Amino acid sequence: MTADEIRRIFLEFMAERGHIVIPRAPLIPKDDPTTLFTGSGMQPLLPYLLGADHPAGARLADSQTCLRVQDIEEVGDNRHTTFFEMLGNWSLGDYFKQEQIPQVWTFLTEKVGLDPARIYVSCFSGDPENGIPKDDESAAIWTGLFEKAGISSAQVDLGTEEHAAAVGTDGARIAFYGKKNWWCRGGKAEDMPVGEPGGPDTEIFYLFPTVEHDPAYGRHCHQNCDCGRFIELGNSVFMEYRRTESGFEPLPRRNVDYGGGLARIAAAAMDTPDVFRIGLLWPIIERLQELSGKTYEDETRAMRVIADHLRGATFLAVDGVQPGNKAQGYVMRRLIRRAVRFAFELGLEENFFPQIIPTIAGIYEAHFPEVAEHAEYVERILVKEEQAFRRTLRKGLKQLNAYRATGVTGQELFVLYDTYGFPVELSTEEAERKGIAVSAGWQAEFDEQMAAQRARSQHPVPHT
Ligand code: SER
Repeated sequence: MTADEIRRIFLEFMAERGHIVIPRAPLIPKDDPTTLFTGSGMQPLLPYLLGADHPAGARLADSQTCLRVQDIEEVGDNRHTTFFEMLGNWSLGDYFKQEQIPQVWTFLTEKVGLDPARIYVSCFSGDPENGIPKDDESAAIWTGLFEKAGISSAQVDLGTEEHAAAVGTDGARIAFYGKKNWWCRGGKAEDMPVGEPGGPDTEIFYLFPTVEHDPAYGRHCHQNCDCGRFIELGNSVFMEYRRTESGFEPLPRRNVDYGGGLARIAAAAMDTPDVFRIGLLWPIIERLQELSGKTYEDETRAMRVIADHLRGATFLAVDGVQPGNKAQGYVMRRLIRRAVRFAFELGLEENFFPQIIPTIAGIYEAHFPEVAEHAEYVERILVKEEQAFRRTLRKGLKQLNAYRATGVTGQELFVLYDTYGFPVELSTEEAERKGIAVSAGWQAEFDEQMAAQRARSQHPVPHT
């Protein structure tokens, strides 16, 4: 089943259950100065989760385009992307846990056809300090569903991820975590501004048994382990609290906020842990293989970064952003520059965006026709930036050569990164290739500069 089919089936399934399907909101939030991008499905619905009546009613569904750039450097593994689609369904004071959990189970196991025996979940273990109880109700609903499917439903209370990695789960289906299963836009209950809504969530993971646990991530694997053996497919947030000065108060209505990663669900349906293999990304990778004459197997990271970043930059252009030095424009510029830099690694030294943008427009033709409608405009904006940056990049390579006699320090590597957009691994590799010495303490110096720069460019509200 393809990602396009999964999106369609999800929206039809929700419509059959009385949900009104609403269009995606743009990547740039309207009237929300606290954040640069729409980073989750719930964000455009914030006023309604806080209690306002939505014109379309109390049951809504959509596939929301999202951008999260906090982990931009992590793009390159098998599942992180900056741009993604989040399948969403909401109950605004209508149904709650008893309907939501079986609903998402039916969607994943019957509609998408995922193997129930590979589904694992997590629930909230409670926050005694704030008087928020352990979510035994969700666990009991999951137990009923697992048992009906003939699957053992053992529970384990893990608390923190560190503790989970130390003690393991013994294969328990239902794992309780504390902070990890509290959902709010900022990520952490203690950082929530007054008035912000949040609540416990229950998360769904898919097991990829062919991926061996990597002890670099801790002694034992568990639902939230980052080794890639478990991949989170989505979560149901039971949004029923609002932050006050002293703790939490109940929201006027209890809401459900489901967010499912379309790419991850599609990858699970294909039984691959690599989201770049799905139909929303693979055509871009194929094009990159053709253009560079290199293979995905040999150039996995570079091809993943280029595919993700160009897709993100394309949607930003469709939604009206232009590359620049500030705010959203700066992020867009970073995406484009990173794509160009990684393209150099593939030997793609001439403009190649015009060869990729039509592929992206084709991928989204059926569901987001606005991409194809604006393809020429997108191409113009992106190519201008591509050309300018290629010139800069060439200058940066020249600058690196200037260190031939003296060797290069961490500080200078940072300047190359920051001013010329050179990824440090490209600089060090290039230096090694050219026999330019790199100072012994370069990494610490570089990291220090990087941390200072991050602190300068942080989001007002760091969404996770
Ligand atoms: N449930 C969503 C999420 O996980 C929010 O809409 O981000």
